[in-house]
Amino acid sequence: MPPHPLAQLDHAHVWHPFTQMRDWLRREPIIIASGQGAVLRDVHGKDYLDANSSIWTNLHGHRHPKINAAIARQLKKISHSSALGLANEPASVLAAKLVRISNSEFQIPNSKAAPRKSGSQFTIRNSQLERVFFSDDGSTALEVALKLAYEFTRRTRKPLGLASARAVQPKFLSLDGAYHGDTIGAVSLGHVDLFHKAYGGMLFATDKVMSPYCYRCPFNRAKPERADARNYRKCNWECVGKVEQKFAAQKKKGNPYAAFVFEPLMQGAAGMIPQPAGWLAQVTDIARSHGALLIADEVMTGFGRTGSVAAVYDRRGFSKQPDGGHRPPLQPLLASHQENVQPDFLCLAKGLTGGYLPMAATLTTQKVFDAFLGEYEEFKTFFHGHSFTGNQLGAAAALASLDILQGEKSIRQRAQLQQQLQDELQTLWALPQVGDIRQVGLVAGVELVKDWRTRAPFALRERAGIRACEAMARRGVLTRPVGNVIVLMPPYCTTRPQLQKMVAALREAVAEIFENKKAPA
Ligand SMILES: Cc1ncc(COP(=O)(O)O)c(C=O)c1O
Repeated sequence: MPPHPLAQLDHAHVWHPFTQMRDWLRREPIIIASGQGAVLRDVHGKDYLDANSSIWTNLHGHRHPKINAAIARQLKKISHSSALGLANEPASVLAAKLVRISNSEFQIPNSKAAPRKSGSQFTIRNSQLERVFFSDDGSTALEVALKLAYEFTRRTRKPLGLASARAVQPKFLSLDGAYHGDTIGAVSLGHVDLFHKAYGGMLFATDKVMSPYCYRCPFNRAKPERADARNYRKCNWECVGKVEQKFAAQKKKGNPYAAFVFEPLMQGAAGMIPQPAGWLAQVTDIARSHGALLIADEVMTGFGRTGSVAAVYDRRGFSKQPDGGHRPPLQPLLASHQENVQPDFLCLAKGLTGGYLPMAATLTTQKVFDAFLGEYEEFKTFFHGHSFTGNQLGAAAALASLDILQGEKSIRQRAQLQQQLQDELQTLWALPQVGDIRQVGLVAGVELVKDWRTRAPFALRERAGIRACEAMARRGVLTRPVGNVIVLMPPYCTTRPQLQKMVAALREAVAEIFENKKAPA
């Protein structure tokens, strides 16, 4: 059969992101023509499950009637008008809603409880997020946070006695393996050699600090078990000590870090690396005690993706049951809030519009905003913006998505899906090439290794993750690996049979490519 005409066009002209195009051009691509719920349909009418929510963007499934209707309603009015010199309705309403969500206490379904007073154990501490700067995608959301934090620090921080030119050059600290996007500021914060090393000459210097990758942590003295490495680790929180050391060393140089940048609860593109409970609360406390701003990259983790709270961790890492078991699980929409952390900059994108349109937001505090106020001729303005900032269609989609997200049906659905995912994933431990299974809410990473007993990794050139995903695609399930980690991130509308199919496809794919005698049931 000759290739589909669209495949010919694609092969002739389209350059795909993060793709070795020589490999791409060797075979006919899957061409998606439509979608419904968790299903994507190709031009030949074949259905696939969208097991990574269209690269971590989709929340409620494709063609959700409420989001479609909101976009259609907005289309009848106007699609876009500039935010330079003009305001518009959906962007203003969305900004107010994002501010409410990002400062709210945990969302408690059916709760009749009076709002908690500050000082109670669940009240989010620290700064309020009051100002919203819109942009287009995750990278630009980070770029905005970086530039604001940089300039805010330059304007407000007093030199600590060393040569002032050096003292006012703000420095940033981010996590080993971090990925925050592909624009130059975001790449500067990144620490994935494969993606970032080539551009070293274009970047500004940032420091990295150990991230808590329990499965491969040099301080974890536990032998491999058939369980999430966070749960059987034997350590003394050396990773937290490393953060403390890094901040202390930088302070000694007379130029304390301006900001600490992190993905809360789970680092995505680093390899779906989850943080043990209590880590985030501890390291952000350290950062604050050294005067650093907190920049939370919730591009992947935001909007309910990290699921419900089993327990709330106080500042010393002790857990407390948040609701005494009397209420449904708490589902903060932001991962940071699960550890009672409130950043100074909150970066949102991907799921902001439910995954329907490109839009991003960077939220920050009144204090940061005030540092950019002045008479016109003082030129304190934040000279930054994008043509599509505050896009009306995107904002309308985002408002509809947030409505769905806060509705009882979605809250219940997410809690169920999280439990079902946990149950289904257990079946994968039977595979000797499954080294670690790490789930945070509605996202899971399954790390493939040569042998679970040794944790011996596959070399990247063996393409273990890619081959597993190709074998899953043959079974009607689409996802992309991060190195040798297979990502499962179902849309929230995924049904139990669909979830079972996703996990079964992964199980069978691994059994097939590594020729395990029999795919375990
Ligand atoms: C945590 C995180 N931050 C930032 C980005 C960059 O987002 P975008 O691809 O929309 O620019 C990504 C993309 O995967 C991400 O996972």
